Amino acid sequence: MARGELMKKLLASYGRDDEFRAVAEQIIDEEEKKNNRVLARSLRKTLEAAPSRPPRPRGLAPLIPFPEAAGDFIELVEPVHTKQDIVLSLENVRVFIGLMKEFRRTDDIRRRGLPVRSKLLFCGPPGCGKTLCAEIFAAELGLPLYIVKLDRLISSYLGETATNVRKIFEFARKQPCVLFFDEFDALARARDDGGEHNELRRVVNSLLIFIDRITPKGFLVAATNLDQSLDAAVWRRFDEVIWFDRPDRRGVERFLNMKFKNVAISFDPISHAAELEGYSYAEMDRISVQAIKAAVIDMRKDVRESDFREALADERRRKHGSARLAQPT
Ligand SMILES: Nc1ncnc2c1ncn2[C@@H]1O[C@H](COP(=O)(O)OP(=O)(O)OP(=O)(O)O)[C@@H](O)[C@H]1O
Ligand SMILES: [Mg+2]
Repeated sequence: MARGELMKKLLASYGRDDEFRAVAEQIIDEEEKKNNRVLARSLRKTLEAAPSRPPRPRGLAPLIPFPEAAGDFIELVEPVHTKQDIVLSLENVRVFIGLMKEFRRTDDIRRRGLPVRSKLLFCGPPGCGKTLCAEIFAAELGLPLYIVKLDRLISSYLGETATNVRKIFEFARKQPCVLFFDEFDALARARDDGGEHNELRRVVNSLLIFIDRITPKGFLVAATNLDQSLDAAVWRRFDEVIWFDRPDRRGVERFLNMKFKNVAISFDPISHAAELEGYSYAEMDRISVQAIKAAVIDMRKDVRESDFREALADERRRKHGSARLAQPT
């Protein structure tokens, strides 16, 4: 094939690992035929050293339609964030890289009779990245993200809940995806509350059994911010527990740098880092967005110290207010 055509094919195969490698092999063969042995050898060495890209099931296979009846409590979420948008502890970065590598070698690992970690529990206070991370993790793996609204599922008509639970798990067995159980604590609560309500207890227990038995085609992720109220029976069902803590000083600084990276500013956000200790990422996000918006509203190019101060004062007032609301009367 003419060199130009091969180049076109190579570019067109971008993102599809197998096709890319096949075209690259063809180019190397052509060079060999043309007696350009040194070049061919060097190209082959480069190709062999290049890491394989993960499979991208989303691009290759159409999504299995989700059972319609389940539409009320399960949602396909399109990713809008990337890994540039999240601050993670180094420890968590290491855990996620490990999980992704493991996922990409699932077949090899299972062939050796070894288990693959695929059921993850995300723990931590509100607004510290559990949902955000599930979204980015799925996107990084090229897997669709399905969010299961557990509280809705549990409170739906009980007779149907059992059927719906079964449908969800059948789906996750076939469709490579990240199946995300948000507010997993609803389950633990329901188990406790279900005292005299045998049917509810039965449904919750059957959900736990399903989680136990399933070998997901991707990942099953559950998120909770009530670490203590989950009993041991729940913990041991997960292959990995990942903690999303409130940011420490370094986390605050990393977040501010990330948030104001592409924004014109006439102050140093880092000078507020000490005041922000104890705030969640979601709260810091709200302050930053509010400050940036103030500049837009005033039709100014840059965000000023006063914008940030006011936004911080607003958040303090809100936090204070919510603390007052939370106090027993
Ligand atoms: N680690 C983080 N890095 C950067 N931004 C974050 C982080 N955590 C949270 N945020 C910001 O806060 C928002 C809310 O976070 P998220 O929904 O992930 O919280 P959560 O831990 O799931 O909370 P909840 O327990 O209430 O469900 C995100 O959309 C993002 O703007
Ligand atoms: Mg969440």
